[in-house]
Amino acid sequence: MLNGSSKSLCLLGFPLILLLLIFLVFSFYLNYGSPPPKQFFSSVTMSSLLDHTNVLQSSPSSSIYSPPISIKRRSNLERREEELRKARAAVRRAVRFKNYTSNEEVTYIPTGQIYRNSFAFHQSHIEMMKRFKVWSYKEGEQPLVHDGPVNDIYGIEGQFIDELGNMIGGPSSRFRAVRPEEAHVFFLPFSVANIVHYVYKPIASPADFNRARLHRIFNDYVDVVARKYPFWNQSNGADHFMVSCHDWAPDVPDSKPEFFKDFMRGLCNANTSEGFKPSIDFSIPEINIPKGKLKPPFMGQNPENRTILAFFAGRAHGYIREVLFTHWKGKDKDVQVYDHLTKGQNYHELTGHSKFCLCPSGYEVASPREVEAIYSGCVPVVISDNYSLPFSDVLDWSKFSVEIPVDRIPDIKNILQEIPHDKYIRMYQNVLKVRKHFVVNRPAQPFDVIHMILHSVWLRRLNIKLPS
Ligand SMILES: *[C@@H]1O[C@H](CO)[C@@H](O)[C@H](O)[C@H]1NC(C)=O
Ligand SMILES: *[C@@H]1O[C@H](CO)[C@@H](O)[C@H](O)[C@H]1NC(C)=O
Ligand SMILES: *[C@@H]1O[C@H](CO)[C@@H](O)[C@H](O)[C@H]1NC(C)=O
Ligand SMILES: *[C@@H]1O[C@H](CO)[C@@H](O)[C@H](O)[C@H]1NC(C)=O
Ligand SMILES: *[C@@H]1O[C@H](CO)[C@@H](O)[C@H](O)[C@H]1NC(C)=O
Repeated sequence: MLNGSSKSLCLLGFPLILLLLIFLVFSFYLNYGSPPPKQFFSSVTMSSLLDHTNVLQSSPSSSIYSPPISIKRRSNLERREEELRKARAAVRRAVRFKNYTSNEEVTYIPTGQIYRNSFAFHQSHIEMMKRFKVWSYKEGEQPLVHDGPVNDIYGIEGQFIDELGNMIGGPSSRFRAVRPEEAHVFFLPFSVANIVHYVYKPIASPADFNRARLHRIFNDYVDVVARKYPFWNQSNGADHFMVSCHDWAPDVPDSKPEFFKDFMRGLCNANTSEGFKPSIDFSIPEINIPKGKLKPPFMGQNPENRTILAFFAGRAHGYIREVLFTHWKGKDKDVQVYDHLTKGQNYHELTGHSKFCLCPSGYEVASPREVEAIYSGCVPVVISDNYSLPFSDVLDWSKFSVEIPVDRIPDIKNILQEIPHDKYIRMYQNVLKVRKHFVVNRPAQPFDVIHMILHSVWLRRLNIKLPS
């Protein structure tokens, strides 16, 4: 597994010594030149962003990794790299001076505890809105490509593909690269959920789970675009990305792991012990999108009216829920755990009456419960192993959620009761605040979930320098 800095290392082909030297000089600067900035994105991303910024300030790299490119291509590439350099510098300035700069009207200013560093995030979002260009490959046909489910638990997959494909009108159209040469990143718009639906179903025997067909479709697609355009080969796919919420999505690169090692995957199923690499891949929220609407009805009560301490309703999928059910199902009036609701009980009304909503992993690490909790003003209680939480590059989940390790499930009630009231109120207020970043809008709106997903890609792209 590669971390961020070793990734830049192999992309840049930089001697380790030089990087070390730059790092030492820079840490000297951080320690003595100015007050050390707080960790403003997750550590892996931040350190590579900062290291990299310094790499760029030193003399241009004589890369050992230079594919032959034409003069015209080089100037396109150089122009894009220059924009990214400016963006990095602006983010660093915002961190240093604790303020933003924007030549557009600012409609929302991120502030407060929910952000690792609100200045860095704000400026980075401004730079993204200003500069980021995405090329969505046009090859392939619906329904496997350019289409995806827009409802139910995989709905974010289709919403994202659709929004990025359309981008007609609305604030997100600004991200569309008119020509691929303008793009900072390249989107592979295939839908794993649709591939499973149209190519695999009905699944009749265990042999039907074999991923060979998924691999073939994906590998063929990459092969087509890598032959037709220079972009994949130029970066070994490091500026290419996919987005999928399906359980099988993490398996997409499995047939050629070495070939796909730099490729960015946006996954709901962000299980770090299944090959999810937080410095390259990015976690996207699983959202249960109702038919004909973009979110469930809001039935959230004031904190005083939230009479249930903790609530969960869902099937006994996976080992974590088994433990939860053993200890809590039908056992306690404060910690209410159901495997199904009876007639007359309304799921959203119950989450709206609960202080804390339990979000145990099911068959996969992700579940739609974090977002359901956030939508209804209920503080999420994350119970999982190896789950890389969505947008944790910029969001500080500890300020609006509680994490309970699987082996502490028997203590859920004590742990939650021991949280002081004022701390609960702060978390509740933070939940209401962070909701903005998990809402689906069509067309997408700045800072909403589609923009947060794009921002995750943007942030990773800022960490890569392509050889020129
Ligand atoms: C931050 O920047 C904005 C816009 O550039 C400006 O109006 C504001 O006065 C600045 N705030 C501080 C504290 O410098
Ligand atoms: C990219 O590399 C592959 C295999 O290494 C090759 O088949 C393909 O033609 C290359 N694409 C371009 C545009 O040169
Ligand atoms: C996955 O979670 C388990 C249990 O918490 C832990 O022991 C293990 O180190 C984690 N693995 C990774 C790769 O984070
Ligand atoms: C809280 O409960 C009281 C009594 O049931 C009700 O009158 C009030 O409208 C509730 N508050 C909210 C915000 O729903
Ligand atoms: C995460 O991945 C590990 C390794 O494959 C697996 O054992 C574990 O069950 C996964 N977690 C969930 C909740 O699926």
